[in-house]
Amino acid sequence: MLDYKNNMLYIENVSIEELAEKHKTPLYIYSMDQINRNIEKIKKVFEDLPLKIVFAVKANNNIKILKRLGDMGIGADVVTIGEIEAAKRAGISFKDMVINGNAKTEEEIEFAIRNDFFMINVDSPDEFEIVEDFAKKLGKKPNISFRLNPDVDPKTHPHISTGLKKNKFGINFEVGYLLIKEAHKSPYVNFKGVHTHIGSQILEVSPFYDAFTKVKELISRLKRKRISLEYYNIGGGWGIDYKRTGEGLDLNEYKEKVIPILKSMNVKIIFEPGRFLIGNAGALVGKVLLTKINEGKRFIFVDIGMNDLIRPSLYDAYHHILPVKKVKRPEIVADIMGQLCESGDKVAEGRKIPEMEKDEYLVVCDTGAYGYSMASNYNSRPKPEEILIEGDKVSIIRKRETINDMFSLIPD
Ligand code: LLP
Repeated sequence: MLDYKNNMLYIENVSIEELAEKHKTPLYIYSMDQINRNIEKIKKVFEDLPLKIVFAVKANNNIKILKRLGDMGIGADVVTIGEIEAAKRAGISFKDMVINGNAKTEEEIEFAIRNDFFMINVDSPDEFEIVEDFAKKLGKKPNISFRLNPDVDPKTHPHISTGLKKNKFGINFEVGYLLIKEAHKSPYVNFKGVHTHIGSQILEVSPFYDAFTKVKELISRLKRKRISLEYYNIGGGWGIDYKRTGEGLDLNEYKEKVIPILKSMNVKIIFEPGRFLIGNAGALVGKVLLTKINEGKRFIFVDIGMNDLIRPSLYDAYHHILPVKKVKRPEIVADIMGQLCESGDKVAEGRKIPEMEKDEYLVVCDTGAYGYSMASNYNSRPKPEEILIEGDKVSIIRKRETINDMFSLIPD
C-alpha cells in the first residue's frame, strides 16, 4: 500500500507529504484496499470450510473501520463494554458478537446474555456458574463455548503468549471435558463448542497444528459420549511480516498442514483475526524534530512517542521505517526516539536508516493493529488523528484529540 512515486512516498494514490502538511503529525493513516486484500487472503485459506470471521476489536477500535468490516458481514470479538459499544456504534449486531475475557465483569456477562450474543466464551468453571445463574435469572439460554488452554508454546513474545498453562487464559483440557459434559446437559445454556487462542504474532504453523490436534482429540472423546460441537473458535494470532524479510506466517503451509485437521473435525470455524486483518493496512506518519550525535551515538528525535505507539517500548517490537522523501544520502545507524521523558520512549533502536534532517517526514509501517488502540495521554500528549484512504478519497475517521478533550473530565 506504500510506494514511492517520483521519489515521494504515497499511500495508494495519495501523497503522504501532502497528508502530513494538511493534517499535521503524528498521523495514523489506513488503506481500505489493503484491509480488503487481507480479508480476501483469510477467506482463501478457509475457502472450503464454513467460516465466521469476528474481528478482534482490541486491535483497532475505530468505529468507521469497524463499520466497513460489519458491512462485509464481519462480526466482532469484544472483551469490554467499551469494545461492545464500539462495535454496536459501527452497526455490528449483538448476534455477531463473541465475548472473550478471563475475568468478565457481571455487567459484561449479563449484557451478553440479555442481548443474545452470538457466543460467550467461558474462561473458567466459576465463570460458567455465573453464566448459568444469570441465564436462570434472566430466563435466557445463551450460546456458550469454553476457552481451552492447550498448553502449547506459540514461540512469540512472552507478553503476547496466551496458550501456555502458566498463562492466565483458558481451562485445561481435563477440566474442560468435565465442564462440557455438564454444559451439554444444562437446561440454562446452549453448549456450542470450544475456543483456543494461543497467542499473537505467531510466525510458525506448528503451534497451531499442535493446539488444533489436541482439540481434535477432545472432539473425538466427546463424540464417544455422544456430545457434538457446532463451532470451534480458533482465535486469532497470525503473525505478519514486520521485518520485511518474509517472516510472516506462511499461509500456504498453514493451508496444507492445518486446514485438513479443521476439516476433519466437521464443525463450523470461527476466526478472530486482529493483527493480520489490519496490521499492515495502517502506518504512522511522524516528523523529525531534531537530530543529535552524542559521543558518536546518533539519535533522530521524532514527534511520535510511546504514547502514540507503545509496541517498540513494550515488546521491543520492530516496525519498519521509511523516509517520505527518497533522496540519495548516506545510511547511518541511529536510535529513533520520541520526545517523552523516558529512556524507553523509542520507535527503533540501532536502526540502519538513511540520514534524516529536521522537519522531514517519516513513516512507521504496520501500525494498523495495536497502534492507536494502545495509545495513551502520557506526558499529557493528545492522541493523534486517524485517516482512512479509499482509492483517492481521504476521510478523517477520528479527529486529533485537543488539550481541552484531554482535561474534559476534570470537574470545575
Ligand atoms: N482472540 C483473542 C481471544 C485475543 O485475545 C486476541 C488478541 C485475538 C483474538 C487477536 O489476536 P491477533 O490476530 O491480533 O494476534 N498488544 C499486543 C497483542 C495482544 C493480543 C491480545 N489478544 C501487540 O501489540 O502485539
